[in-house]
Amino acid sequence: MNRRKFIKNASLTGAGLAVGSTLIHCAEATSKNEENTAVVDTKNNLPLVIATWHVENATTKAMEVLEAGGNALDAVEQGCMVEEANEKGQSVGKGGLPDRDGNVTLDACIMDKNGNCGAVVYLKDITHAVSVARKVMEDTPHVMLAGEGAKQFAISKGFEPEDLLTEASKKAWEEWKVKSEYKPIINIENHDTIGMLAIDNNGDISGACTTSGLAYKLAGRVGDSPIIGSGLFVDNEVGGCVATGLGEEVVKTVGSFLVVELMRQGKTPQEACEEAISRIVKKPNSNYKAFQVGYIAVNKKGETGSFSIHQWFSMTKFQNGVNEQIQSDYFNKA
Ligand code: GLY
Repeated sequence: MNRRKFIKNASLTGAGLAVGSTLIHCAEATSKNEENTAVVDTKNNLPLVIATWHVENATTKAMEVLEAGGNALDAVEQGCMVEEANEKGQSVGKGGLPDRDGNVTLDACIMDKNGNCGAVVYLKDITHAVSVARKVMEDTPHVMLAGEGAKQFAISKGFEPEDLLTEASKKAWEEWKVKSEYKPIINIENHDTIGMLAIDNNGDISGACTTSGLAYKLAGRVGDSPIIGSGLFVDNEVGGCVATGLGEEVVKTVGSFLVVELMRQGKTPQEACEEAISRIVKKPNSNYKAFQVGYIAVNKKGETGSFSIHQWFSMTKFQNGVNEQIQSDYFNKA
C-alpha cells in the first residue's frame, strides 16, 4: 500500500476521516521506525469489507457500521440484511426464487472472531435469515436450526413472518413450471449467494452468508451456504472465506475451510481460492462446464482474493475509502 496515496484518498472520503486516528498513529510510528512498514501497511488496510457479487449498497452499510466503531460481526450481519431486504435480488431473502413447489426457503449462517457460529436452513417466511442465524449462535446452545423449528424460534425472538414470494418471483416460477426443467444456471441473475467478510479496526474478522438457494430446487434441498466450513469459514488467526455458486460442489470439497487452511499454510488469499477451485474442476468426471462456483477470501493482513470457475463472477471490496466491484479471474478460459 502506498501510504501517501492512502492519505490522499483518505482526505477525500468519509472512510479516511473515520480512520484518521489510525492514520496519524501510523504516520508517527513510521517516522520513529521507518523499517516497520509491514505493521503500518496492515493498519492502513483496515477496516475492510468484501462481499460476493456486485453489492455496493451492502458493503456501504457494513462499512458504515465499522466506521462508527462497530465490530465485524455487526457489519456483516447488517451488510447481508441489505440484500435480504432487496426484493430485486432473486437469490437472497425476500423476492428469492422458490423451490419447485413455489416455497421460498432461505439458508444462512454467521461466524464470529471466536469461532462461534449459527445457521438456519430451510427457513420460510422470515426475510432476515442471517439475523436468525445470529440469534441461534448467541441465544441457544446449538449451531443450526431447520425448517419449522427455525421459523418458530425466529418468531419467538420477535421476527415478523411475511410472504417472501414476490409477484416477480412467482411469475418466473410459473414460467419455469411450463417445462419444469431443472438445471443450475451459471451466474443466475448475476447474483447468487451473498457472502460477506469484514475486518474491524481491532483487526478481528467475522463473516456471514445468506441465500434462497438454487431456484426451483427439490423441496427440502439445502446448499452450502448455511454449512460452516463449506459456504463460510472464519479463523481469526488466519482469515476468512465465503463461497457462491452450486452448493453441492462446495460441500463436496468443504471449500471455505479448505481456503482458510491453505492460507494458514502460507498461501495468499488469491492462491488459496485458485487451489480450492482446482480441487473442484480437476475431480475425475467433473462436470464443471455446467456450473459456477466462486470464492472470495481475506487474510489477517487485509489482503484479499477471489476466483471462480467461469467468467463474470465478481467481488465488491470496500477498503481505504474505495467501494469497488472487482471482476474475478477464472478457470475456464478455453
Ligand atoms: N450457494 C448457494 C446454494 O447452492 O444454495
